Amino acid sequence: MNEADSERIGRSFAARGFELTDSLKAADAVVINTCTVRQRAEDKAISQIGRLRKWKLARPDGKLFVVGCAAEKLGRKYIRNRFPFVDEVVGAKSLDKIEALLPDFPTLPDFPPENRHSVQKHTTGQPSPLPTFRPPTPRLPDSPVSAFITIMRGCSLKCSYCIVPAVRGEASYLAPEEILAEAEAKIAEGAKELILLGQTVNSYSYKAGGESVSFARLLEKAAALPGLARLRFMSPHPLFFTDEFFRVFRENPRIGRYIHLPVQSGSDRILKAMRRGYTRARYLDIVAKIREAAPDAAVSTDFIVGYPGETEADFRESLSLIGEAGFSFAYCFKYSRRTDERGLEPDLDEAGMDERLERLLAEVKKNSGAILNARIGRIEEVLPESRDFGRTSANFVVRPERGAELEPGALVRMEITGVVRNALKGRPVP
Ligand code: 5AD
Ligand code: SF4
Repeated sequence: MNEADSERIGRSFAARGFELTDSLKAADAVVINTCTVRQRAEDKAISQIGRLRKWKLARPDGKLFVVGCAAEKLGRKYIRNRFPFVDEVVGAKSLDKIEALLPDFPTLPDFPPENRHSVQKHTTGQPSPLPTFRPPTPRLPDSPVSAFITIMRGCSLKCSYCIVPAVRGEASYLAPEEILAEAEAKIAEGAKELILLGQTVNSYSYKAGGESVSFARLLEKAAALPGLARLRFMSPHPLFFTDEFFRVFRENPRIGRYIHLPVQSGSDRILKAMRRGYTRARYLDIVAKIREAAPDAAVSTDFIVGYPGETEADFRESLSLIGEAGFSFAYCFKYSRRTDERGLEPDLDEAGMDERLERLLAEVKKNSGAILNARIGRIEEVLPESRDFGRTSANFVVRPERGAELEPGALVRMEITGVVRNALKGRPVP
């Protein structure tokens, strides 16, 4: 979501004649798009802002924007008090206002368009490459082969540990026409894969003129767009799966055979305390239905370790879920207290958290290794995102064998010949 927002912000700048640069020296404006999902993300954002003091000293006319979720949480007053050199603070709920702030940019008229630059810094996720873009057809900060489409903002669930509803607000859904128009525009720009985004993406539902568009219906429409090779979505929530979804998933092989389905814990007791709204059995039932609809599908997840009250027995339920659900991969996080609710202080110390995290990661690695190895010898359809890597429908990264190169954006059949670290190795076959 942070990355998708960064891209949207980049477009606002592009509309004003700016282009992206990865050189801080060349930048006339810097945008720090912050995350606060865990304390570490917020700490990273804060130190990133601190490091820009020097830039601002050297470039007093430059503009520093601090935006996003940590900006929403900490507030303008706090940020400007602590970092008086910050020019604008725009919280996650007001990202739309950035474009309106830009015409006031006082240095703007003095700069010929070819000298205008802006830099975006991501504070979470994989650092994206920051190619230069030039209006009117801006080159985007993410890979043109795979593009994000935000279909909803915010979240209306109330998971006990989560700060997202507080900083992004209640769930709201974009109109299907708007989503499909953006999808078409991105395909026209060269995207071959679209990733529909939302905090509970499969809760999507849009009513207009007596007609209601469900998530499944939206997927069906998007999957039918000409020129699209693959459709993905992220992240669904176990509460919102429907029979209609499983039918659409089964009938549309263009929908990637991969579902990232955050579980958070394998223990019913902890799931209840987290207010996740499902049990381990119900979660496994959904995984079974995914595999029933698409036997080859890969399922990955998120885990939180060290949630308040998590006993060794609870933790072992998370460990055993990895093999039982057959996760191809899992992001594992140490619990980080984000809300003011009482009783949510972690009861494990840092060393205790680290110990559980390591055991969980080791189990994930063992399981993923087995799942990757099971793909050796198969022929897979790979969508190359660059010359040296692509992804299968089940989202496994495939790298070409030494000497071979892939053509970005062109689907290719590859024989899987081995496993290197977390990726598959393969060679194109006719
Ligand atoms: N502590 C640790 N991990 C968290 N996540 C969300 N909130 C917290 C928290 N307070 C994790 C969840 C979620 C992912 C995006 O971040 O696993 O799925
Ligand atoms: Fe947070 Fe996701 Fe729960 Fe919403 S569904 S409250 S975003 S963890």
